[in-house]
Amino acid sequence: MAAALSCSAHILVFPALLLLLLLCLSPLNQNSFSDFFFPSSPFSYRELINKKTPASSPAPAPAPAPTPIPATKPSFNPTNISYSPATVPHIRRIEDSLARARAAIHQAIISRNYTSDKEELFIPRGSIYRNPYEFHQSHIEMMKRFKIWTYREGEPPLVHDGPLNNIYSTEGQFIDEMESGLSPFTAHNPDEAHTFFLPFSVANVIHYLYRPLVSYSREPLQRFAVDYVSIISKKYPYWNRSSGADHFMVSCHDWGPDINGGDPKLFQNLIRVLCNANTSEGFQPRRDVSLPEANLYYGTLGMPGRGQSPRNRPIFAFFAGGYHGYIRKLLLDHWKDKDNDIQVHEYLPKDQNYNKLMGQSKFCLCPSGYEVASPRIIEAIYSGCVPVLISDHYALPFSDVLNWSQFTVQIPVEKIPEIKTILQGISQAKYLRLQMRVIRVQRHFQLHRPAKPFDLLHMVLHSVWIRRLDLRLPC
Ligand SMILES: *[C@@H]1O[C@H](CO)[C@@H](O)[C@H](O)[C@H]1NC(C)=O
Ligand SMILES: *[C@@H]1O[C@H](CO)[C@@H](O)[C@H](O)[C@H]1NC(C)=O
Ligand SMILES: *[C@@H]1O[C@H](CO)[C@@H](O)[C@H](O)[C@H]1NC(C)=O
Ligand SMILES: *[C@@H]1O[C@H](CO)[C@@H](O)[C@H](O)[C@H]1NC(C)=O
Ligand SMILES: *[C@@H]1O[C@H](CO)[C@@H](O)[C@H](O)[C@H]1NC(C)=O
Repeated sequence: MAAALSCSAHILVFPALLLLLLLCLSPLNQNSFSDFFFPSSPFSYRELINKKTPASSPAPAPAPAPTPIPATKPSFNPTNISYSPATVPHIRRIEDSLARARAAIHQAIISRNYTSDKEELFIPRGSIYRNPYEFHQSHIEMMKRFKIWTYREGEPPLVHDGPLNNIYSTEGQFIDEMESGLSPFTAHNPDEAHTFFLPFSVANVIHYLYRPLVSYSREPLQRFAVDYVSIISKKYPYWNRSSGADHFMVSCHDWGPDINGGDPKLFQNLIRVLCNANTSEGFQPRRDVSLPEANLYYGTLGMPGRGQSPRNRPIFAFFAGGYHGYIRKLLLDHWKDKDNDIQVHEYLPKDQNYNKLMGQSKFCLCPSGYEVASPRIIEAIYSGCVPVLISDHYALPFSDVLNWSQFTVQIPVEKIPEIKTILQGISQAKYLRLQMRVIRVQRHFQLHRPAKPFDLLHMVLHSVWIRRLDLRLPC
């Protein structure tokens, strides 16, 4: 099957897809993320989307006259790198290796086991995974093959740098990991890359370009993103050959999704890895990736696991936080300081330790704030507290792989008044199962530098990897 799916055997591709279609519809393959790369119709390949919108299509109307740009405007000062203009043989090699990965993953789904050249130290199993066999093999294939080229154009702090602490830290940690020279996924030559990373930091662009912060206009940010892509797409063949579909960027800033506004057509295929994964603001779960948000204290990679045993958690449900956004307002208006079981605080008394309280709680309320993501989800998971998700239009991180309903409780916004009834309706046996799975899922939300297999950064990379598997470049 590997050969049949490869670039060099075009004639066999179509029957192979039909075969896959049949396999996809078989019960073996239910509830898996493989509809990503074994789509139920061959016409859903993103390759075909690109053909409809070739890079040579007429440019959109010129943008309105630019406002003066601050003095910190980056000078894109690229290092010279060598690449071969004869890209087609490279694409063929890359597409062949992706075809072998798809075939191995498919085999793992059927055999409900894995194949690996190495000893596997961790074998994902259990109901927290939508399909553990598929995920395991896909992770193995990623470790074996996945190569990412990080563009070198641009200068810190706007590019090649990002916040390592506080609320936007997953953005900076990801950029820093890719820039560290320690990542096994680093391509040493762009011709061997499966995907291309645009290493600018939206959080840093806003921090440095909006100084003083007098305007909330997205224009400087959008112009920056368009400029960056225009530099790399003129200099190299990679952006144009896929119309950006094998390129990705990462942002945890609330404004991350807004980069498209400068030229929606230019960015229509770009894989955006975003904390603000709001499906009613253009986030497309199939193309984009939901990035977890973590509030890292200075110099740390996450809070220590402080949780108490599930039978020794005196607080039934806990939340502390400000009036940020409409969901928090509903929550605080209804529950603030009113109920001993549902402990909802706007501010904690100074002598109280937030993390310790989470570790003493059975359920931790995680409402969306100004954006859909909340660092409380990770905090709850670290402290062994079952997350209670209260959000609208939030595409949850890693949901191609993880079955969130196995380790969280999800309460619709309109049922905020019923929180107590809903949580009290969960039996002790069910609570203990949920809590045990929270502990099992911890590994996927932990940050390590350098990153480690199956940790948060690897899960983000895996999310990009399966989107690349979904794409086939013409060759
Ligand atoms: C996810 O878990 C729920 C129960 O919590 C179950 O009904 C559903 O079938 C599971 N989905 C997958 C894809 O395994
Ligand atoms: C990069 O290439 C250009 C044109 O080939 C050359 O003029 C320039 O000196 C090179 N720069 C470096 C840093 O090697
Ligand atoms: C699964 O595969 C591994 C490695 O290929 C092998 O060692 C193991 O025996 C297999 N397990 C089953 C249940 O077939
Ligand atoms: C890519 O396309 C853009 C817009 O059509 C064009 O300006 C640019 O020169 C192209 N890049 C290359 C490397 O051909
Ligand atoms: C998600 O997007 C919708 C539509 O723009 C918006 O009304 C809502 O406030 C957003 N959600 C959050 C939590 O920001």
